[in-house]
Amino acid sequence: MVTKEQVLESLQHIFDKTYNRRLVELGLIRDIMLKDGRVNLTVVLTEDSEALKGQYRQDVEEALKKLGVQDVHIRYRVISDAERSETERKLQQGESSDKQHKHQTTHAPAPGTSPILSPESGVQFIAIASGKGGVGKSTVTVNVAAALARQGKKVGIIDADIYGFSVPDMMGIEERPQVVDNRILPIERFGVKVISMGFFVEDNAPIIWRGPMLGKMLRNFFSEVEWGELDYMILDLPPGTGDVALDVHQMIPQSKEIVVTTPHATAAFVAARAGAMALHTNHELLGIIENMSYYTESSGEKAYIFGRGGGAKLAEELHTDLLAQIPLGAPDNHPSEAEYSPSVYKAESETGHIYDEVARNIIDKLSR
Ligand SMILES: Nc1ncnc2c1ncn2[C@@H]1O[C@H](COP(=O)(O)OP(=O)(O)O)[C@@H](O)[C@H]1O
Ligand SMILES: [Mg+2]
Repeated sequence: MVTKEQVLESLQHIFDKTYNRRLVELGLIRDIMLKDGRVNLTVVLTEDSEALKGQYRQDVEEALKKLGVQDVHIRYRVISDAERSETERKLQQGESSDKQHKHQTTHAPAPGTSPILSPESGVQFIAIASGKGGVGKSTVTVNVAAALARQGKKVGIIDADIYGFSVPDMMGIEERPQVVDNRILPIERFGVKVISMGFFVEDNAPIIWRGPMLGKMLRNFFSEVEWGELDYMILDLPPGTGDVALDVHQMIPQSKEIVVTTPHATAAFVAARAGAMALHTNHELLGIIENMSYYTESSGEKAYIFGRGGGAKLAEELHTDLLAQIPLGAPDNHPSEAEYSPSVYKAESETGHIYDEVARNIIDKLSR
């Protein structure tokens, strides 16, 4: 079975015509998935051209054939304006950041330290918290991450809900991470790098580890995983204010936080505790996301099934912003799609647009 690295390696010779750089180097080959001998991948086009697609198809199929892969599914997507300006910005900075990167990788980190946790890493951490389970914290995590990636950002997710991990299922990830040179490679999906306890548990067996082991597991997610360059790391916290949530707060003092609630007054009341914990541990709140806010009737009218105003009230109480109100409704995705996910809303959907708005808002807030 070939690895994702072999796939990327075999595609090194394919150049993007606009920037005259390798597609791989520009990060324009995305979402590589290997399954049952079949390779799925996305090519991001810098120019919407059928001829270009045909050329890439030929190049990719030829390269993968040499690896013994016959079954290749290529998805094409045209680069977004945000991704384009991000790419151009990176290319302009190219020389210097290249050097810096090499410099970093030639110096092995001291044992026990995690380079991405050091303030110099430049990674912005965003923890997604909630007062209780079932309000959509994981849904918000995967969709905020995917939306940030659509804006051209390099994004990681740590599924820190160690007992209740759900990110792999929600994103439709079925593969398991590879280990190369003793480093764990995160799984990439929708342009987001993902690590979850779910990858390391056999057949959904219950997790019976206690405190110290869990803390160590979380630490490993930082130190043993090859994250590469990241702009944002999104953490799906366990619900409530228990040990793991506290661990995360203490391990990543620089983390910002988003609190998820439903519009119901009681839910918002419970969520306030999670927010209070963030403030108590000096984590800056980025804002509140109210999920399951309303249902849009076929008439177009909004029905506020779970009550109204919880998010706004919570934002006021915690002196922060209400970032979004997400309507009720599952994503319109189908298992037959090449890149199926039960929980990631499509960019062009109503909810996808709302998440894009949230992503832009986050980028703006964190670059101030
Ligand atoms: N806006 C929404 N509309 C419909 N279903 C939703 C929405 N948000 C979340 N869900 C569903 O509600 C359930 C709980 O969401 P989840 O993200 O797992 O919550 P949490 O991580 O807070 O426990 C899941 O089945 C999820 O698919
Ligand atoms: Mg969850």
